[in-house]
Amino acid sequence: MVRPDARPPAPAPEGGSLPDAAAVDLSVQLGPMRLANPIMPASGTFSENLARVMDLDRLGAFVAKSIYATPRKGNPTPRVAETREGMLNSIGLPSKGVAHFVAEHLPAYAGLKPPLVVSLSADTVAEFGPAAAEISVPGVGAIEVNISCPNLEADGRAFAQFPDATYAAMSAVRAATSLPIWAKLTPNVADIAAIAQAAEAAGADALVVANTILAMAIDVETRRPRLGNVMGGYSGPAVKPIMLRMAFQCARAVRIPVIGCGGIVTVEDVAEYLIAGCSAVQVGTQTFLEPGAMPRLIDELARWCAARGIGRVRDLVGTVRLDPDPSHAEWLAS
Ligand SMILES: Cc1cc2nc3c(=O)[nH]c(=O)nc-3n(C[C@H](O)[C@H](O)[C@H](O)COP(=O)(O)O)c2cc1C
Repeated sequence: MVRPDARPPAPAPEGGSLPDAAAVDLSVQLGPMRLANPIMPASGTFSENLARVMDLDRLGAFVAKSIYATPRKGNPTPRVAETREGMLNSIGLPSKGVAHFVAEHLPAYAGLKPPLVVSLSADTVAEFGPAAAEISVPGVGAIEVNISCPNLEADGRAFAQFPDATYAAMSAVRAATSLPIWAKLTPNVADIAAIAQAAEAAGADALVVANTILAMAIDVETRRPRLGNVMGGYSGPAVKPIMLRMAFQCARAVRIPVIGCGGIVTVEDVAEYLIAGCSAVQVGTQTFLEPGAMPRLIDELARWCAARGIGRVRDLVGTVRLDPDPSHAEWLAS
C-alpha cells in the first residue's frame, strides 16, 4: 500500500485559503469497507460503556474484545502492571463465548452507524472455522481474527508466529464466512512481512499490525514477577516506533490495507502510521488514561489536515518519502 511514486501533499495555493477542518474528507477504504474516518479502538480496550463519555457514532468502527467460541477463564492475577512508558497485561482472553456475545453485547450496537468488528480467537485451527460461522450474524460488519493468541497445537506459541499456521487459521475463517476478515498479527516475530504475506494469501481483507510485545516486570522488593502469568503483553507510547516499523514493512509486503496499532497518543502518531502506509489506526492503552482520546484524535486529524492543505485524509496513506539510497535496499526489498 506504500505508493512508490508518493509525493508530499501539495502546499496550499499562494494567498489561497486552506480547507476548513469541517470540510476535510476523513473517510478511508478498508478493502470492501468504507469507514467515515480512520480512528477505531484496539480490541480489549473498548466496550459499549464508553457511550457514557463519547458519541460512539463518531468512531470509524467498533472493535470488540476478543471472544472464543466457548466460555473460558483468564490468567491468574495480577493481570496488569504499569511501567514508566506503558503497561503490561496478561488478561489471558477470558471469554463468555460467542452465544453470550450475540445475546448480551450485539444488541448494544444496533442502530449505531460505525461497523462492528468482532475479534475472534481460538485454541486450534479446527476451532476457527465453526466459531467464525457462528459469529457471522446480522449486525457484525467484519471479523478481526486474533491470530496472536496461543495455538495449543504448537506448544502454545501464537498462530501468527508462523506463516503456515497463519495461513491455516486465516484459510479456515475465510472458508467459513463471507464477512470481511482482518488478521491481527503479533509483533513477537523476526520477519513480520512473511506472516503478512501468508495472511494475505489465505484471503485476509486487511491486516492489523500489531498486538502487544511479550515483556516482563519484577517487583524488586518481593522479587516476584509483577504479573500473575510472569510475562505479558507490553503496550502504550513506548511501543509505537516498533509497531510503526512493522506496519511499514507489512504495507510494503502486501496489497491489502494495513491498520496500524500501538502506542498512539497524539495526532502526529496517527499521521505517522498513515504516512507509513496504514489506511487506518487503532487506539488502545491511551483510552484507559483518557477515555475521550479517540474523538479528540478525530477532531485533531481534521485540523491537522486542514492546516496543511490536505483535503482528503486517504491522500496521506503511504506517502513516506524514501531516498533512492542503495543502503535502504535490504529494508525495502519485498
Ligand atoms: C488491557 C488490554 C487488553 C487487550 N485485549 C486484547 C484482546 O482481547 N484482543 C486483542 O487482539 N488485543 C488485545 N489487546 C491488545 C490491543 O488491542 C493492542 O493491540 C495493543 O494494546 C497495542 O496498542 P496500544 O499501544 O494503543 O494499546 C489488549 C491490550 C490491553 C492493554
